[in-house]
Amino acid sequence: MIVLGSDHAGYPLKEEIKVYLEENGIEYCDVGCYSPERYDYAKAAQKACEKVVSGEAKKAILCCGTGIGISMAANKVKGIRAAAVSDYFSAKFTRMHNDANCLCLGARVIGAGLALELVDVFLETGFEGGRHQTRVDQITAIENGEKVY
Ligand code: RB5
Repeated sequence: MIVLGSDHAGYPLKEEIKVYLEENGIEYCDVGCYSPERYDYAKAAQKACEKVVSGEAKKAILCCGTGIGISMAANKVKGIRAAAVSDYFSAKFTRMHNDANCLCLGARVIGAGLALELVDVFLETGFEGGRHQTRVDQITAIENGEKVY
């Protein structure tokens, strides 16, 4: 299951992503927001990311105006590796090299066509492991207050 979340600026894109997931038979849950009324991105980020770290959801897809604020909030949740992405290469490699578990999109930055391509490659691409696992482990160590150098 994929968890979706957005603030008001990301709301229209989140709704388009929902249609795309439905059309492709991908199960999701939507933690809001549920209208274009003002809603702060940190709330959606925390709500969605809690479902990822609990194991209820495999990955999160979050939308705000730039994709940046919501990614910053998401990365404060322990166990989340969120990437704000607006190009295909980064969407693919943040899965292959960073094992990103949260894709953040900027509804005021990219159009829905590109956003859906990014969603697709993000969901389809696996983590390469190996030397990249060592680096991801270092991110986790930093999160746990350990020195990695
Ligand atoms: C909301 O106006 C906007 O600041 C927010 O969606 C996002 O772009 C923040 O990073």
